[in-house]
Amino acid sequence: MTVKNIEQLKAENMNLADKIYIFDTTLRDGEQTPGVALTVDEKIQIAQKLNNLGVDKIEVGFPASSKGEIESAKKIKDLGLKSTLVGLARSLKGDVDAVLDADLEYVHTFIGTSPLHRDYKLKMSKEKIIETAVDGVEYAKDHGLTVEFSAEDATRTESDFLFEVFNEVVDAGADFLDVPDTVGILTPIVTHELISDIKDNFKTPISVHFHNDFGLATANTLTAIECGANQAHVTINGLGERTGNCSLEELVMTLKSAYGIDLGLDTTRLYSLSNLVGRLTGVKMPVNKPIVGDNAFAHESGIHVHGILNNASTYEPMSPDMVGHSRKIVLGKHTGANALKSKLKEYHIDLDEKQFCKVFDEIKSLGDSGKCVTDDDLIAIAITELSSARETPIVLKGLGLSSGGGVSPTATVKLEIDGVEKETASTGVGPVDAAINAIRLLIQGTMDIELEEYNLEAITGGTDALAEVFVITSDPDGNKSTGRATNQDIVMASIIAVLDSINKLLLIKRSSLT
Ligand code: KIV
Ligand code: ZN
Repeated sequence: MTVKNIEQLKAENMNLADKIYIFDTTLRDGEQTPGVALTVDEKIQIAQKLNNLGVDKIEVGFPASSKGEIESAKKIKDLGLKSTLVGLARSLKGDVDAVLDADLEYVHTFIGTSPLHRDYKLKMSKEKIIETAVDGVEYAKDHGLTVEFSAEDATRTESDFLFEVFNEVVDAGADFLDVPDTVGILTPIVTHELISDIKDNFKTPISVHFHNDFGLATANTLTAIECGANQAHVTINGLGERTGNCSLEELVMTLKSAYGIDLGLDTTRLYSLSNLVGRLTGVKMPVNKPIVGDNAFAHESGIHVHGILNNASTYEPMSPDMVGHSRKIVLGKHTGANALKSKLKEYHIDLDEKQFCKVFDEIKSLGDSGKCVTDDDLIAIAITELSSARETPIVLKGLGLSSGGGVSPTATVKLEIDGVEKETASTGVGPVDAAINAIRLLIQGTMDIELEEYNLEAITGGTDALAEVFVITSDPDGNKSTGRATNQDIVMASIIAVLDSINKLLLIKRSSLT
């Protein structure tokens, strides 16, 4: 991809503004995402991070809507951030007063201008709309505020009326004119016409606030910027009313990667900020969300992984480091030998050619059966392959059980640990528990284990059914391993599965020590 600089783009008739402002509204429109409500403390955390990212403006809330909004705005103000803080207000004196009460110096006033808003929501004539909009701007200017004016539902407003409203509020002193696509109906080509037209007619800086109802918010915002818009309203993770607003990370990274336009943001903070916002709002991003989704830099197919391992640019439009994300090689039915080799290297697992082929086949057949192969699965498969070629450190030598009414079930277990036989008895809530407790006692000093998961299934019918036991154990270093066994006796199947898993953990521990 050839990255052009701003000068080249301007020369090619792109009407880019000299300065493009990023106006983040995660804490206002983003908080209007259905089901989202942030505490004062959470708003402070996000504001701090937005400031560190380097956004020009942060819309901290709608002070007239609650006391909490005024309190959070004040507390954010006390942080002394570099970003300009903005408060939303309807074109009403009371709303502007609330912004003043919150100690903010920048107000974003708005009033609906489309026929639908005039007739069904506000029940106001065109004249009344203009008068109210102008009064709001004048009142805010008289109180020393910087004023950004939004014509709500601008994109469904008759253009001559929209221009009339804009002319009047400019005369009243508005510093920024914002064009909200309130229900996200724009397309890039219409955006091009509309914003070019507004830019040709107004000297006041133009801002855009585009919603994502048809998935076009980022494309439309980018188009507006290409046509000279001076500012973009955005949110982290594209949060906002209904399907959200233009996503900050998508817009900023498109400008940076496609055009080489650096807005001066520290983009390496994007991934962690996206995660913070996801955690605090409870709105988790889908894996395929551009820039910040889990799969944004994940590769599975053999052809892609091969390319990536030689040169990451083959299948990545930007490096994950640019946004603080990381590359992930995923194993599955499309996995190629190169991907597997690189994964095994990552975990310092050395397999000979025969073992490698067996592990490769097993991963492919797991993938074919519709399973996703996690890194833990790979380690378990590889270690099983390795352990089958080595001596098993712990071998079951004997088992005795006693249980009955009124006494605790007791298990006596005999193990050979590194060639030395040991035997002990223990009680438990049932015979399986008693046997596992006895194993724990016997391996004390060799290995500490936690039983993370225990699953028992009967795989044939009848009282002589085969029992299949699957377990996951872990050690204090956080290593995990799986164990599996099938036997007609449930206790026996359980013990063999647990020992299988412990032996793998022991091999992992010993191989990491060598
Ligand atoms: O979407 C919208 O129209 C808004 C206004 C308050 C600007 O959020
Ligand atoms: Zn909005």
